[in-house]
Amino acid sequence: MEKNFRIAPSILSANFAKLGQEIVDVISSGTDFVHFDVMDNHYVPNLTIGPLVCEAIRPLTKATIDVHLMVKPVDRIIPDFAKAGADIITFHPEGSDHIDRSLSLVRDSGCKSGLVFNPATPLEYLDHVMDKIDMVLLMSVNPGFGGQKFIPETLNKLSQARKKIDTYMEKSGRQIWLEVDGGVNPNNIEEIAKAGADTFVAGSAIFGSGKDSDPNRYDTVVKSLRDALAQV
Ligand code: DX5
Ligand code: ZN
Repeated sequence: MEKNFRIAPSILSANFAKLGQEIVDVISSGTDFVHFDVMDNHYVPNLTIGPLVCEAIRPLTKATIDVHLMVKPVDRIIPDFAKAGADIITFHPEGSDHIDRSLSLVRDSGCKSGLVFNPATPLEYLDHVMDKIDMVLLMSVNPGFGGQKFIPETLNKLSQARKKIDTYMEKSGRQIWLEVDGGVNPNNIEEIAKAGADTFVAGSAIFGSGKDSDPNRYDTVVKSLRDALAQV
């Protein structure tokens, strides 16, 4: 199993009034990606942030910006996020009428691409597009809100996704990351990693843990996530 784990704080749970500082502080606590949740009040019942916010935070960090599009349709907005500095763009198959074309659009815009699977969305969407995918993202909650409970069936699905990805990586020699998103915390991250995930989104578990203006306020929770991963 891959031991090189990445932690991706979801800024959905950050203090938006201080977003820039939140990002600087959470990355300096030892996290890897900025997970950027884009919701359109159409594909999911919530409305969040767009390319303007991505562009505004881009100069603040060298960390990978991992844009998770919960929008429908996806194609119109993909190049805007690439221009705004996104490194990875993932979208839900239900958000695209032509999945292969949307994946190519992400790559042609200069970003790494990925597909996101809702709890009930089958992994078969991967089968004919592996060559166009850099990340597989499994939702462990239904998308739309932070702070929900991890759905345990995701552990079985992670094992299945791990097998598909390992088979493909052996054959192609190309890396694909397996990310999990929703309800991840220091108590469950170890079993989630054992099921096969290598990249972990955590929103409320991280941003809910610090209250004041201490720049090191996220160190404790990030260390407990890392300590749990070290057991894998
Ligand atoms: C949910 C979002 C998640 C969410 C995770 O639709 O995609 O990224 O912010 O938040 P937590 O970690 O609180 O479940
Ligand atoms: Zn997300």
